[in-house]
This record gives sequence, structure tokens and C-alpha cells, in this order.
Amino acid sequence: MKATVFLGGGRITSALVAGLRLAGDERVIVVYDRNQGKLRTLRREARVEMARDLKSVLLRAEMLIVAVRPASVAGILQEIVACGISMPKLCVSLAAGIPLRKLRGRLGPAVRWVRAMPSPVCRVGRGLTALSFDRDVTKRERRQVREFFERVGAVLEISESQFDAFTAAYSSSHGYHALATLAKAAQAAGLDRTTALTAAAHALSDGILYWRESGKALTELLHEAATPGGIAAATMSAMDASGYARVVKNGIRAGMKQARINARR
Ligand SMILES: NC(=O)c1ccc[n+]([C@@H]2O[C@H](COP(=O)([O-])OP(=O)(O)OC[C@H]3O[C@@H](n4cnc5c(N)ncnc54)[C@H](OP(=O)(O)O)[C@@H]3O)[C@@H](O)[C@H]2O)c1
Repeated sequence: MKATVFLGGGRITSALVAGLRLAGDERVIVVYDRNQGKLRTLRREARVEMARDLKSVLLRAEMLIVAVRPASVAGILQEIVACGISMPKLCVSLAAGIPLRKLRGRLGPAVRWVRAMPSPVCRVGRGLTALSFDRDVTKRERRQVREFFERVGAVLEISESQFDAFTAAYSSSHGYHALATLAKAAQAAGLDRTTALTAAAHALSDGILYWRESGKALTELLHEAATPGGIAAATMSAMDASGYARVVKNGIRAGMKQARINARR
């Protein structure tokens, strides 16, 4: 029976298949990974099939999702070529930084590639996935890929030239990082750990929720939340003077640099 096939059964595959099942998606999913333990966990938790070998799984793939780390992509695509069978036509790469032209070059012109950048938040159905399509991907295939990722959250189509910037900017780790940093500072200022985490979590998530639900502009919300001469205004102003914007910009730049390193792999 035809199936959605994942090559690599690590963190992002685990989140995606869990999100699909949570959404009631009962499609046949087969996962190929060299770690039998990871496959057994996925089979138990998300009712996926464990692939016996690469060749047999390729023959079943209606849509092939490459979910190995960027450094492992060339290797696994070489293994695919070595199988010597006709390739699935539609392949989706989750690998950060690896451009479409590189992917195209590895498996030949018959394969139509899509780049996708989801996050582990798709596990709870509230993620965001950016998609960028190779020009040969058919309308029907575009819809198929879009609907697949829409099962686990919102979907954004962007041009490939924006992909690295999106990848650097859209990581749920930014949320955890900001939360940990704010909570640590609050704890240093005298709050106990639990109260510090609760206050920081609400500060970040309440603000974003309100922004989303109110439809108000950020400047308007900042004006509302920070009384001139007040504590929030003083805190923000000190953060800005200490280089908050520069620090974040440097972080994004470093992420994009890593994407360019991945592209050379
Ligand atoms: N994690 C995220 O939040 C996230 C979000 C968006 C996109 N991505 C992208 O998704 C990809 C996977 O990331 P991940 O975090 O899920 O990585 P991961 O947890 O390391 O999972 C990759 C899995 O693939 C296996 N693997 C690698 N090469 C293989 C081969 N030749 N044959 C069989 N199995 C092989 C790995 O085995 P070993 O452990 O033995 O190497 C590992 O179990 C990356 O390219 C990343 O850029 C990740």
C-alpha cells in the first residue's frame, strides 16, 4: 500500500506524526531510520510502520519526506541512488539550509522537490510551516503538501530566497530562550523560580496573544502597556540601551550563516 514516507525518525518526524494523529489523520506512515529504538517508539506512540529497508520503503512512497540532519542529506540521497529504482516523484526536504538546486542535482530531474520548515510545535497542532516549491511541482502536488502541513498548523508559502531568514527567525527555541532569560532575570531580582517562570511566561504569551486577538499595531500596544516614566518604560529603555536589538539581529545573522554552511554540504 502507498504511504507517506519519512527518512529519519528523529525529533521533527516524531512531532509531525504526533500532530497528524492528533488531528485525526489516519494515513499510512512509514518511517525509515537506522535506530530501531526510535522506530519502535514512533510505532507505539503514533502508529507508524517501521521500514524494513530503504529500497522497499521507496517503492511505497507517495510522498517522501527527508527528515535527516543537513549533514546527513547527501549521504542518504546517495543511498537512494544506489538502490537503483525509480524514485518517488514528490519529495519534501525539511533540511535547514539545503537549497532546491542542490536537492535537484542529487536525485535528477524526475523528482519534484519542496522545501518545508515546520517546528516541533506541530506536535500540538499549533505550528507554522513555511513552504517553497520547485517550479516543476504540479498544482495537485502543491495542494497535497499544503494540506499535509495544514493538519498540524498554519502554512506560509514563501520564495526560496527568504527561506534561510525564515528558518533563523522562526524557531520555537526563540520562545524558550526568551522565557528562560526573562525568568532568570526575574529570579535574580528576588522572585522564587516558579513565580519567576509564571510571570515571564505570562508576560511573553499574554502580550503575543493580545496582539494576535486585538489586531492592534505593536506601537499602539507598547504605548498602552508602558506608561511614560513608568517601570515597563524604564525596563524596555534599559534593555534597548544595552543592545537588545543588536543582540537579536546578531543571533539571526548567525542562524543565516549556519544555513549557508549547510548549503555547502
Ligand atoms: N528539530 C527541529 O525542530 C526541526 C525543525 C524543522 C526542520 N528540521 C530539520 O529536520 C531535519 C531533522 O532534524 P531532527 O532534529 O529531527 O534530527 P534528528 O533528531 O537527528 O533525526 C534525524 C534522524 O535521522 C537518522 N538518520 C540520519 N542519517 C540516516 C541514514 N543515512 N539512514 C537512516 N537514518 C538516518 C538519525 O540517526 P542518527 O541519530 O543515528 O544520526 C536520526 O535518528 C534536519 O535537517 C533539520 O534541519 C528540524
